[in-house]
Amino acid sequence: MTRFTDQVAIITGGASGIGEATAKQISKEGGTVALFDVQEDKLATVKAEIESSGGTVSTHIVDISNEENVSSAVSEVISQHSKIDILVNSGGIVGQTGTKIEDYDAETFDKVIAVNLRGPFLMAKYVIREMVKRDYGRVMLIASIAGKDGNPAMCGYTSSKAGCIGLVKGLGKEYATTNITINGLAPAVIRTPMNADCTDEQNAYMIAKIPMGRLGTIDEAASVITYAVSKECSFTTGFIFDLSGGRTVY
Ligand SMILES: NC(=O)c1ccc[n+]([C@@H]2O[C@H](COP(=O)([O-])OP(=O)(O)OC[C@H]3O[C@@H](n4cnc5c(N)ncnc54)[C@H](O)[C@@H]3O)[C@@H](O)[C@H]2O)c1
Repeated sequence: MTRFTDQVAIITGGASGIGEATAKQISKEGGTVALFDVQEDKLATVKAEIESSGGTVSTHIVDISNEENVSSAVSEVISQHSKIDILVNSGGIVGQTGTKIEDYDAETFDKVIAVNLRGPFLMAKYVIREMVKRDYGRVMLIASIAGKDGNPAMCGYTSSKAGCIGLVKGLGKEYATTNITINGLAPAVIRTPMNADCTDEQNAYMIAKIPMGRLGTIDEAASVITYAVSKECSFTTGFIFDLSGGRTVY
């Protein structure tokens, strides 16, 4: 027996980065994974990789900011896999960076809030409805240290991640007397495709803020996330897990 035998996990943003690594880890430990993403080609690649390692996986083209998409994809997962034990919401976008609010586009702000805040709201809404029926569930919404500390010159991203942290804290209390836990994660910089284009100068600036003096890895992210969504993590809810190499002080 392994930690996720007979469990079903939905992972949004499962085609890349932290979501992909988490899906592969849950699959390696016996779980069935349902990957939600907008990148069809990448979903197919990750599906083939998981299947070649003997895992069970389904893929779903879903824009997590679209209620109709989310509702029908969650129903698809129920009809294919019968239940949902775990939700990891890793889908997200950065939007404009290096842009003060005076020049920040309102359309970009709306888009970032839609994906990074409406997205986890919709995913939690439709998945928790299913979890309530069986009185069991583990929800992990990936936020960011940007939502705790406030990153300059990316107000859409920072605001969306602060909102996500609020969502986790409220939902944790809302379901605290059930066997459904809702937690979040606030990573500092993790090396993924999201920041692959950063210059050496940007990387050096970000590393300088991290006492461990390095970026985090996707495997380190997957380790914390899989613990938080495992059965053994049963007395923690409404909490924002840290993944910052010592940067976070609260
Ligand atoms: N990498 C970091 O340094 C870092 C730090 C803090 C927080 N995060 C957060 O971690 C999460 C994962 O980021 P990552 O670094 O793995 O990035 P990534 O770009 O590698 O993966 C994000 C995935 O989300 C998908 N996605 C984007 N919009 C979507 C939508 N509307 N619907 C469904 N899927 C969508 C993308 O296609 C992509 O596959 C994000 O929420 C991000 O904000 C990342």
